Amino acid sequence: MYNETDLDKIDIAAEPPTEEPARQYYFMAKCREWVKDFEQKNGRLPKSCVVTFGCQMNARDSEKLRGILRETGYVEASEEEADFVIYNTCTVRENANTRVYGRLGQQKPRKKKNPHMMIGLCGCMMQEPEAVEKLKKSYGFVDIIFGTHNIYKFAELVAARLESDRMVIDIWKDTDRIVENLPNERKYAFKSGINIMSGCNNFCSYCIVPYVRGRERSRDPQAIIKEIRRLAADGVSEVMLLGQNVNSYGKTLDTPMTFAGLLQEIEKIDGIRRIRFMTSHPKDLSDELIEVMGNSQKICKHLHLPVQSGSTDILEKMNRRYTKEQYLGLVEKIRKAVPDISLTTDIIVGFPGETEADFEETLDVVRKVRYDSAFTFIYSKRTGTPAAVMENQVPEEVIKRRFDRLLKEVQTIASQACAVHEGTVGEVLVESICDHDPGMVTGRLSNNLLVHFPGGRELIGCYVDVLLKECRGFYYIGEMHRTQKAPV
Ligand code: 5AD
Ligand code: SF4
Repeated sequence: MYNETDLDKIDIAAEPPTEEPARQYYFMAKCREWVKDFEQKNGRLPKSCVVTFGCQMNARDSEKLRGILRETGYVEASEEEADFVIYNTCTVRENANTRVYGRLGQQKPRKKKNPHMMIGLCGCMMQEPEAVEKLKKSYGFVDIIFGTHNIYKFAELVAARLESDRMVIDIWKDTDRIVENLPNERKYAFKSGINIMSGCNNFCSYCIVPYVRGRERSRDPQAIIKEIRRLAADGVSEVMLLGQNVNSYGKTLDTPMTFAGLLQEIEKIDGIRRIRFMTSHPKDLSDELIEVMGNSQKICKHLHLPVQSGSTDILEKMNRRYTKEQYLGLVEKIRKAVPDISLTTDIIVGFPGETEADFEETLDVVRKVRYDSAFTFIYSKRTGTPAAVMENQVPEEVIKRRFDRLLKEVQTIASQACAVHEGTVGEVLVESICDHDPGMVTGRLSNNLLVHFPGGRELIGCYVDVLLKECRGFYYIGEMHRTQKAPV
């Protein structure tokens, strides 16, 4: 494993190595020279800020960017103070793009005042050629633009920018390359996300992800296991396995392996106490996985199973490849195997052609499944997807009314589902000091429910038995029952 001292040993006067990750460490060493120079001139280290939009995969990518920045000597600061601001973008819905343009607009005057300042953009939105064109035309003050496939090259791109005066743009259409062993800066000491695959082959008709994240690729299971072992040795006890469609993990490997098989291997790792994963596509959720979840001591009692719509007609137009009945059957099977499982979902309202009757079917699924929580989205038209050119786009006012009705239903059911735990004792992994009360800590139960209870900083990272005293809709106020330290 590389570390700070190794950077000192790198000869930056020599040609850059061609192999990875050595090449990136070479560029980190080069950037660090620039950082030292900055420190000498300004009497302080340069400050950086990585701002994440979108999903957990992006959050994990941002940790990698932060790791590289830390290695080169940057110190973290707020967006308003940073000398280098990086926006890791999302494009799954149109408003995600709008927000990025807004933030860029805010940075423009700062950059004018501080010419040494740098602005970087990466992530899914950069994989859209129209977005990059707009940035080149109207946001010429941006310094670096790169996409989702070459994030590992971040140090090399920063070095390129530092050596030239021009905007550096490097976007790849796709890749089968996965570079291991680069630095990363975890947000939490005791839990971590782990990419197990990237891309998506499903082409749901509304979704832009397959176009911007490319084809599905699974990471080598040995590399995943090695990374988790290393994380466990470093104090991590909860892992979240990440992928757009984790249930189809391993299909493209030279020696195919199922997701259930991978979970069983991870379960064997000492020190790992909780295993989470997302996202699961209902069409690929196997009986083998359900069985493994039922028998596991470590897999958390939570499954995020996006339904998107309750209408079989709409599901077909969405290219989801399951019917309402199949989805409900799957839910029944899971609940039978893992009776106390918490189920959450994603729902889109206003997909083209959605009638009142279709929407009622969605409400019916919500009532039947009784989700513990649901993310509800207004359909957003993404150029280039098949749904964008479908007829019968639903009028905005109709969508809005349906969305409000759905939200009310989801919230009522979720608070009832949450309340069933009142009076029980659950094991909470403490994550942080409570945002609203410094005398309390906040953590999560295995089923992902949030719990706040009186306690101090020393509990962070510990597993604590907590009496769930009062349900407040989506979270609990509890009281410590008895403490136990996380095994390391
Ligand atoms: N419009 C609205 N919601 C969308 N999602 C994906 N694409 C769109 C879109 N075009 C939602 C889906 C997915 C979640 C991550 O985002 O519900 O599960
Ligand atoms: Fe998008 Fe469907 Fe792939 Fe999820 S499974 S990322 S919704 S195409």
